[in-house]
Amino acid sequence: MPQLAERMGRAVPSAIMQVAEKAKQLKAAGRDIISFSIGVPNFLPGEHVYAAAKASLDKDSGQYGSNRGPDALLDAYLVHLERNGFTGYSRKNLCVGVGAKHVIFNAMYAVLEEGDELILPAPYWTSHIDIARILGAEVKVPHCGADQDYKLQPAQLEALIGPKTKMLVFNNPSNPTGMVYSEAEIRALGEVLVRHDIWILSDDIYNQMIFDGLGWAHLLKTHPQLRDRIILLDSLSKTYGMPGWRVGFAAAPEPMAQALVTLNSNHITNLPEVVCAAAVAALTGPQDIPERMCREFAAKRDEVMATFARIPGLSCPRPQGAFYAFPDIRFAFGKRHGELRIDNDVDFCNALLEVEGVACVPGSAFGEPNGLRISYTCKAAELTEGLRRFESFCKALA
Ligand SMILES: Cc1ncc(COP(=O)(O)O)c(C=O)c1O
Repeated sequence: MPQLAERMGRAVPSAIMQVAEKAKQLKAAGRDIISFSIGVPNFLPGEHVYAAAKASLDKDSGQYGSNRGPDALLDAYLVHLERNGFTGYSRKNLCVGVGAKHVIFNAMYAVLEEGDELILPAPYWTSHIDIARILGAEVKVPHCGADQDYKLQPAQLEALIGPKTKMLVFNNPSNPTGMVYSEAEIRALGEVLVRHDIWILSDDIYNQMIFDGLGWAHLLKTHPQLRDRIILLDSLSKTYGMPGWRVGFAAAPEPMAQALVTLNSNHITNLPEVVCAAAVAALTGPQDIPERMCREFAAKRDEVMATFARIPGLSCPRPQGAFYAFPDIRFAFGKRHGELRIDNDVDFCNALLEVEGVACVPGSAFGEPNGLRISYTCKAAELTEGLRRFESFCKALA
């Protein structure tokens, strides 16, 4: 068989999907499995979204659409940007994609030459590193452990920026930790960034899921002078319960937005008309569902943290956004559960799945092997039972 491109050797299947797959197989084999592994929001969009999709289907033109995105969708995204306090953008600054993941791929493709450096704080979301690697970038990973609330410190950023640095990926609120940066923390990072001419890929897709009345600080607000090198990234997946509809957005300086449009024109061409109609309805319709889900996730976060507090030795920086928690599980290393010895995060997750039927993702998948990720979007009863099993597992370690 002829060879695949060398870059394919750098592409790895998602570790998160592998855990989800294993849990699915065990379930199919009759095991009682609770999955805390995959980051799906687990609620459906409102009726108005389906109504818009159906109405669009009735008059679907079947024609090719705009590479940038139809005007109605771009305008709806502008409304969303303004709701978030980002003004001064116009259609020329925007581009849509098949989910935020596709926009990330395109934005990195537009910027990174082989060997260019990209800074990605760990714990990171897996596709951020995988896409950069596929593209041949050299990924610099500052380690941001539980002792610093999994947050990038200005000195770490400063130390890593060099002549070959092209981009920082900044994800706030964070997948996988659920951490949210305060305004002072954002401002301090901005002070470093204004001194270095690099792109900032601001992955903002959890911006509607922030708890405790914390508010959402942003580099573009603390340092508006960064505007000509910030790419704002958003998605309908988590906010509106629409991961399978595949709608992502970028707002960026015109040349970057145009580069994304050019890339779209050479692969996807356009998003389907029906999907765009549903997306417009989600962005411009009633916003009560995201608001309600945010309250629900905050309550679930409280339940997760209350369980963790009862487990001796386990610590977890308190998440204030998204729907993830990332406990530090080092207390378990070197212990056993019956015959099963736990030396690292992968052993922990395998044993937890084996003994209690609870699936979590090992932290090493996110560049932080001292922890694991729990995604707590499942049904309330499942969450309570899964947490009970998690606690019982931890307390049985000796
Ligand atoms: C931080 C982050 N960015 C981007 C994405 C991709 O979102 P989408 O479904 O829009 O491709 C995800 C999905 O899990 C994510 O967690």
